[in-house]
Amino acid sequence: MNLLAPSLLAADFSYLGDELKCIERGGADYLHFDVMDGHFVSNISFGITVLKSIRRVTPLIFDAHLMVSNPARQIEPFALAGADIITVHYEAADDLIPLLNQIRALGKKAAFALNPGTPADAALPLAEHADMILLMSVVPGKGGQTFMPETLSKAEAFADYAARKNLKLDIEMDGGINLDNLDSVLNAGVNVVVVAGSSIFFKGETEERTKKFKEALKCV
Ligand code: DX5
Ligand code: ZN
Repeated sequence: MNLLAPSLLAADFSYLGDELKCIERGGADYLHFDVMDGHFVSNISFGITVLKSIRRVTPLIFDAHLMVSNPARQIEPFALAGADIITVHYEAADDLIPLLNQIRALGKKAAFALNPGTPADAALPLAEHADMILLMSVVPGKGGQTFMPETLSKAEAFADYAARKNLKLDIEMDGGINLDNLDSVLNAGVNVVVVAGSSIFFKGETEERTKKFKEALKCV
């Protein structure tokens, strides 16, 4: 089954509670929570304080994407604040295995992310320590960018690796995904989680857009 993870980054923060209700009613599966520290990426987004307060008002699964330079320092606070899935970037640490183990030891799903420019090969064996791989289909740091189709082959590489090793691995793609390129994303990998920000959150249309995305996910 394919899952939809609307990215909160594209929401209207003056109506945050309403925006969450809209994606819930539309059938969103996860809430993708993009954390930017102004160092690993140049923008700053939001963090623990926001996560804690919205955790109280929505039952959605919280998918925390940590675009931060020192992920080791952030894993426990995000786990305690209520993240369900925690993603650390491959490019942000020399050895990801202890970080993935730490996430799992805290009872959370562990994931790692690859930037568009990072090849899959060296990262494939890490799949044995993770529940999910997040493939960036834009350069991380901001929403509303154009999808990079050259990143799709990495989904195939991870899907093949997981099948060969008999691993249960979710494959998530993040960045620039809309109803026009969704088919290419779903055809590239199995068990896909689709992150979409600017094509979901839109004043007065968020619920409808979420529903349309969910329908499109079922059709493939
Ligand atoms: C980019 C973030 C993405 C992004 C998705 O750094 O990780 O989650 O906000 O938003 P859209 O769908 O607008 O590319
Ligand atoms: Zn993200």
